[in-house]
Amino acid sequence: MNSGVSEDMYVLELARRRKSVRAYASSPIELGDVLYALRAAIQAPSGANQQPWRFIIITDPEVKARVRRVCEEGERKFYASVRGELRRWLDERGFTWRKPFLTEAPVLVAVFADMHKPYAVQSTWLAIGYMLLALEERGLSSLTYTPPNPGEVARTLGAPRGYMLQVLIPVGRSRDQRPKEPRKSLEEVAYVDSWSKRLSDVLS
Ligand SMILES: Cc1cc2nc3c(=O)[nH]c(=O)nc-3n(C[C@H](O)[C@H](O)[C@H](O)COP(=O)(O)O)c2cc1C
Repeated sequence: MNSGVSEDMYVLELARRRKSVRAYASSPIELGDVLYALRAAIQAPSGANQQPWRFIIITDPEVKARVRRVCEEGERKFYASVRGELRRWLDERGFTWRKPFLTEAPVLVAVFADMHKPYAVQSTWLAIGYMLLALEERGLSSLTYTPPNPGEVARTLGAPRGYMLQVLIPVGRSRDQRPKEPRKSLEEVAYVDSWSKRLSDVLS
């Protein structure tokens, strides 16, 4: 049994409960739970079934520290240059160039896409979505962290040429009190038959 998670949570409940977590307890987690999420990920559809995703499961504290160092170098430059609406959004949430979750979380999963394959990025992000929900099912929190310098991070991890880092996913137990970001309603984002017919017109 996993921490307070019922055996029969449905996808919508899991999706509603999942949120980005940026502060983790350092307590270890079961590798089996991470493998479970990767088994879900590799069931995702992909362009011409080329399965362009590759994963590195990182648990070594030295590797995590190296990854954090490289990411924070990129983040310092990013935060020195970012302006406008994005800057305000980041500041309101207290986000800075510091990314402690990269060393706090017991596991980091680096996800790559084989850029020679058709629809490599789209397919890999579908797999990432499957993975996030599977982690949630196991009572584990995560974050889709996209460093500003993915090429440097990929080199640090020894990725071959052509494999582009898509995301680093810290995985662990949350100690983040922040609520989930609000969502637009379905009526605001969905139409029926054409852009001119709102879902709310059909439902009312
Ligand atoms: C493609 C993508 C890139 C993201 N990159 C970052 C990131 O670099 N750093 C970060 O803290 N959150 C990142 N996020 C998380 C979003 O900020 C978060 O999903 C969004 O604000 C909604 O919040 P929620 O996940 O808690 O519902 C990213 C999410 C996606 C889908």
